[in-house]
Amino acid sequence: MPKFPLSSANANSLRPSVFSTLTAQFKLLPAPPIPLQLGDTYREPCAAAHIDRAAQKLPKTKAYAYSNPWGLEELRTAVAQRCTNDGLLGVGADNVQVTAGGSQAINVVLQTWLQPGDEVLVCAPYWPLIKGMITSLGAIPVEVPFYPGIRQGVPVAQLLQPFVTERTVALYLCTPNNPCGTVLSAAQVAEVGVFAVKNDLWTISDEAYHHYIYDDTPHPWLANEPGMAARTASIFTTSKSYALAGMRTGFLVGDTAWLDVSRRVSTHQIYGVPVICQYAALGAIQEGGPWIAETKAAYKRVAKIVRDSLQADFGNADGGGYVFPDFTKELNGKPMITWIQELLREGVCISPGDAFGKDFENFARICFTSVPEDQVVLAVERLNKSLDRLRAGRAL
Ligand SMILES: Cc1ncc(COP(=O)(O)O)c(C=O)c1O
Repeated sequence: MPKFPLSSANANSLRPSVFSTLTAQFKLLPAPPIPLQLGDTYREPCAAAHIDRAAQKLPKTKAYAYSNPWGLEELRTAVAQRCTNDGLLGVGADNVQVTAGGSQAINVVLQTWLQPGDEVLVCAPYWPLIKGMITSLGAIPVEVPFYPGIRQGVPVAQLLQPFVTERTVALYLCTPNNPCGTVLSAAQVAEVGVFAVKNDLWTISDEAYHHYIYDDTPHPWLANEPGMAARTASIFTTSKSYALAGMRTGFLVGDTAWLDVSRRVSTHQIYGVPVICQYAALGAIQEGGPWIAETKAAYKRVAKIVRDSLQADFGNADGGGYVFPDFTKELNGKPMITWIQELLREGVCISPGDAFGKDFENFARICFTSVPEDQVVLAVERLNKSLDRLRAGRAL
């Protein structure tokens, strides 16, 4: 039976981007607001990742040809080496699939593991695209209020177990977390491992921000926990690690037993990642160590400025690039989107919390890495002023 012009229910389940509505409003403002809604960085990537350097590495002949759909051997080897140096155990080039960003890596692994009707525990608040990626496969994201409990030291199993059903097949975890900046301790990551093994779950360990942990404790790898190597997909992205979001390069890392199936999924989705982007990523991985150290110091400084100066109710950003305050008191019943639209006129843009989980409609995500430090300082001043106005019950 033809169904033109109806698009599929799975595709229709995808949320439109809230940013497109907000940024459309920018044009109507006298001056553009400071864009703290973006999950990006103001930093230029390291020189070794620049496109002219990447272009020099292209093969002399067939520079524009297809290349290995698994990713360049040289790049996969460099990623495996970097993982090993950073303490992730048992990774060789055969455990790495190069993907079009972390987004595609997650999409591919979900498509590898899930059947329609399967449930995935999504630790909330969460990176917004995860939910749509699950629903678009006909599977069910189960939001677990997680990171607030983690901050209070509630045992992991106590947070997760009530949401397990016989249809639960996987768990999505991100530490440091986008949007709230929470970092799980080594003991908490170990508890996640025990929980996943006990319940026989696959796990997606989103490592997007693993380079940016501000108390300098080593990053605990979920895949290193007992019984976890075979069931964990570790997700990496050069967007966050190396300020290369436009190069759309990421890595899916895991056991070849399922990764070999993921390679087929990836080939059917995109065939391969643009070769020049892979060479840019290679430059970053080979030479970007000092750049990461510098970037981390800069982010850490700004995280502290935000912690010390933003007059709102939020957990400190122990890692990553965001804070996620609860503005329930200040809003006092006003819809978040109304305040955000007022804030645009006061010169700042932030991201409404409902995109990050259903319990967070009075929260907002504030990114402190999208603009340089002086701009963050100015944005916080504007936010504080606006919050004072809300507390005093004044209209704009
Ligand atoms: C937690 C997290 N995971 C994955 C991604 C995907 O990153 P990309 O597709 O740019 O590599 C992002 C991007 O914002 C993220 O914040």
